[in-house]
Formats: sequence, C-alpha cells, structure tokens
Amino acid sequence: MDGENQAGTMVKRFGGSKALIHYGGGSVVRSGLLDRVKSSLNAEGIAFTELGGVKPNPRSGLVYEGIELCKKEQVDFILAVGGGSTIDSSKAIAAGVLYDGDFWDYYCGKRIEEALPVGTILTIAAAGSEGSPDSVITRESDMMKRGASGDAIRPKFSILNPALTQTLPPFQSAAGITDIMAHLYERYLTNSTEVEVTDRMIEALLLTMKHEGPRVIADPNNYEARANIMWAGMMAHNNSCGVGRSQDWNSHNIEHELSALYDCAHGAGLAVTMPAVFKYVMKHNIMRFAQVAVRVWGCSMDFEHPEVTALEGINAFAAFLTSLGMPRNFEELGAKEEDIPVLVENLCCGNGRDGSISGFVTLCKEDCTEIYRMMV
Ligand code: NZQ
Ligand code: ZN
Repeated sequence: MDGENQAGTMVKRFGGSKALIHYGGGSVVRSGLLDRVKSSLNAEGIAFTELGGVKPNPRSGLVYEGIELCKKEQVDFILAVGGGSTIDSSKAIAAGVLYDGDFWDYYCGKRIEEALPVGTILTIAAAGSEGSPDSVITRESDMMKRGASGDAIRPKFSILNPALTQTLPPFQSAAGITDIMAHLYERYLTNSTEVEVTDRMIEALLLTMKHEGPRVIADPNNYEARANIMWAGMMAHNNSCGVGRSQDWNSHNIEHELSALYDCAHGAGLAVTMPAVFKYVMKHNIMRFAQVAVRVWGCSMDFEHPEVTALEGINAFAAFLTSLGMPRNFEELGAKEEDIPVLVENLCCGNGRDGSISGFVTLCKEDCTEIYRMMV
C-alpha cells in the first residue's frame, strides 16, 4: 500500500543521488501524488529537479528539453510519475543524456545500449511501459510516431499502487484496458507452434480483463478490480507472455499512425484497428482465431466451418470494447477517410520503412489501404 512513499528508498537503492522527476499534464499535481513523491526523496536526502508537461502521445520537443536540463543539473536518475507517455518520455531522456548524437537515431532502429537508470510510479494501467524495454515518441517536425528499444531503458523499478488509478476517467480506464488486451493479442497472433504455456497465460490474462474491465467501468473505486488490471497490464507487456514465440504488432503499427495524425488515445485507436486487422488476416490461421474465440469468448466450435467461430470471436471482442465505451470506426475516433493515402504512406514508407510492415503476416500498401477502409 502507498508504495509511492518508498520512491526515495528505491532511487537510492539503484544509485540515484540527483533525480529528474518527470510528469504529465497535471493529474499527479492535483492528486497530491507529486508532493508525496518529493517528500519521499527529501526523506532520503536525494536532490531533484522537475519537468512536467508530457502530453499523451509524447513529443520530441520536451525530450530535447529534458536532455538539456539533465546535463545542466547533472541528473543521474530519471523518475517518471504518470502513465505510459510520461514513462516513454523519461526513457527517451534517459537514453538521450548519454548519447552524443540526436536521440531520434534510436527511433530509426538503433538499439539503446546505454541510458541513465529509470524508475516509475505508475498512475494508469495501459501501455505496459513500466515493464517494457520500449519507448514510443512522436517527432514534432513531421508528426512521425515511432518506437525505440533496449534493455537499458527497462525501468529499474516500478511502483504499482492500484489506488493511484482510481481517479482515472472512464474513457482513459477503457482505453487502458483495450491497450492491455492488444498487447496480449499481438503475442497470441504467432507463427510459432507448440507454445502452449504462453498461449494459456495469454488466455488467462484476457479472461481476467474480460471479467475486471466492466467492473472498473461500473465502479472506478473498485480497488480489487483495479489491482488485477494493473498487474495484468504489467504481465501483458513485460514479455512474460511472449517468450519463445514470434509476435505480431501490425495492429500497433497501424494504430500509431492514427494517434500520430489525430492525437487520439492509443487504446481508442486500437479498438477501431484490431477488429479490422483481425478480420483481414484471419485466413492466415483460422484455428488460432477459433481457439481464442472458444477459450476466451465462450463461442462454440463449428468444426465444419471454423471461420464462422473465428469471426464470432472477433465480433465478441469488438462488442466487448464497445461496451466499455470505446469507438467503433473512423468517425467515432475522429479520423477521416480522405487521409487514408497519407496514413498508408507514413505507415509503410515513413522513417526509412521499405514499403510494407511485417508480423503475423506481411502487409503491403494495398493491404493497409484495405484495412484502413474497413475501419470507415
Ligand atoms: O497527463 P496527465 O495529467 O497525467 O493525464 C493523463 C493523460 O491525460 C491521464 N492520467 C494518467 N493517470 C491518471 C490520469 N488522469 C487521472 N488520474 C490518473 N491516475 O491519462 C491520460 C493518458 O495518459 P498516457 O500516459 O498518455 O496513457 P498511456 O499509459 O495509455 O500511454 C500512452 C502512450 O504509450 C504508448 C502509446 O503509443 C502512447 O503514446 N505506448 C507505449 C508502449 C511502451 N513504451 O512499451 C507500448 C504501448 O503499446 C504504447 O504504444
Ligand atoms: Zn499498446
């Protein structure tokens, strides 16, 4: 309980003597969390400087500012207080401080080998950045949203206090639930065979989200449901469920263009993206979709027409997301049909890509165009 009061002890344990406290648009100020974190650092004699203002779908501008600030103030630890956006911005700063070149090089495919240590105090169960070696940033000059990776930016510790998520508005809770389920599906859609352990782990976590999701939407103060969702969010994306199997990530890549162009919540974009992608790629492995339909969505198996079962499962998942309050199509998301050529160009060719994206299946420009059309 109240793990945030251990922040100072944890920063010290991982060698920090001067921290940058990085946070978002103000929720941690309003809730009093920031003051508690500062008291905890003071109690351990850890000096700090602070930088707020991280926006959802975090931008490169604040990362450059954070890098300069850390160099000037000789910061040796980055403490992220907030959601995935704040954590991702913190990771980018942590890597950028120790790098001679432009930090964006890491978002063009260069692996991050060195970074200042990062710790997190999580306030929303969603992106899973609290356990992942990834960071996703949008470059402001051309609104290119891309990811970078490396174990050096995996948080040294993450404090997960479910009570901190009780102030989330229902829409953000639902977007977070959607993102967690997406991280599970992206791993479920694999070309590896005989991966029973991780299949079953993913199914267990999807079932948990199916049970707990509606309970937090109905009662935002349900501590137990919040706790289960928060732990599921960590397990969904720290790659425990992805060990030894190929993974998809096409839905994420397709969605990132939507949150780059329209600044929508990542989870809301995924709610519109996933059903379309799944229907488009279903024929690649009907039994995979039929299996999750039966085991998670309670569909009965049609052995003569497994494609019917597969489709039923996708529709059940889509209906579940709608019941949480997520958008169903471009219009509800705020996206525009006439932008599809731009979305496809950025997706398949932007930032050095070679004309396609690959995962469960390889998708060329025509495939991606059709998928975006299915979302209209
Ligand atoms: O900025 P503040 O004021 O804190 O408000 C935030 C923000 O408006 C608010 N919020 C967070 N905790 C709250 C709260 N409001 C009230 N009470 C609380 N306890 O929620 C809004 C969304 O926050 P954000 O950090 O943007 O959410 P999320 O965790 O969903 O992060 C989304 C970002 O993560 C990326 C996404 O693409 C997106 O940019 N992802 C990062 C990944 C990774 N690093 O591994 C993987 C994911 O797939 C994802 O791509
Ligand atoms: Zn995600």
